[in-house]
Amino acid sequence: MQPQTLVLRRFSLNWLSYEKPLKGGKILSTLGRMKVYLNGGFVDEAEAKISVFDHGLLYGDGIFEGIRLYDRCVFKLDEHLERLEYSAKALLLDMPWSRETISEATCESCRINGLTDGYIRLLVTRGVGTLGLSPNTCKEPQLIIIADKIQLYPDSFYEEGLKIITVPTRRMNPATLPPMIKSLNYVNNILAKIEAQHVGYQEAIMLNDQGYVAECTGDNIFILHKGKVITPKTSSGALKGITRQVAVEIADDLGLPLVEENLTRYDIWNADECFLTGTAAEIIPVVEVDARVVGDGKPGPVTAQFLQRFREKATREGTFI
Ligand SMILES: Cc1ncc(COP(=O)(O)O)c(C=O)c1O
Repeated sequence: MQPQTLVLRRFSLNWLSYEKPLKGGKILSTLGRMKVYLNGGFVDEAEAKISVFDHGLLYGDGIFEGIRLYDRCVFKLDEHLERLEYSAKALLLDMPWSRETISEATCESCRINGLTDGYIRLLVTRGVGTLGLSPNTCKEPQLIIIADKIQLYPDSFYEEGLKIITVPTRRMNPATLPPMIKSLNYVNNILAKIEAQHVGYQEAIMLNDQGYVAECTGDNIFILHKGKVITPKTSSGALKGITRQVAVEIADDLGLPLVEENLTRYDIWNADECFLTGTAAEIIPVVEVDARVVGDGKPGPVTAQFLQRFREKATREGTFI
């Protein structure tokens, strides 16, 4: 665990004046008591509103991060904020806040909501402008931080594994919109999700425009084949997942060779094991792809090791709030 900085201690004192913490396991939003960080301060969730002229709403012009809090420590906070900065740079979106300011606001959002474990959604919108596309009319980007809870999948999915399917909607070509930008425009992924759900699946593989596997709608994908861990290169159309990077480190810790290469659906169908990685999903086994059983149809032993190591890291590392 990283040592607390002076700034964080200052926030810890502020913490004393807030309401009694809610139990770590409750979903704050359903209680209607959540405080949302908006425009430099905290407001009740019912008051957490932005203008209909914000280009984040009008055009999906903005960026975001999904971050986890484990046992009062924000996991990979710096990595998320670095990716946010890269997304901002790619969109020529000038963020007027330092990384430290955003980091402090993120920790404070967790504290003020009494969270010990949770999921933080951090958004930067282009801000209010006129109805035209041009971002030049948007003078003030908005920083919004929502600290709440999330459970993407029930526990049984982690024990029994996920069945997934490849959908027709392709991951965007980097020349269209680099998929590495975590922008507020997720319609590409949402279409893929809808296609999967229409046929009864929770998650979907998205191919790139060359037909190689890119990633899933909100997760990166890994396979294990003959002792090798393989994941598509991010240039195949995948987001540079923070959890993906943790999995790369775990492969190294386990002494497993890891390669990043083009994967076809055939490679996934014939994998010994398959799992997905993402901040919300964490590490989740996949046991069936496009009606082909992966391995023996049960979460694999190597995937179980990844999951266990991930949970160890998640509770051991992080920025203390
Ligand atoms: C499209 C997509 N791919 C992969 C991921 C996983 O990335 P991370 O591990 O940073 O959450 C996400 C998560 O937001 C995503 O939206």
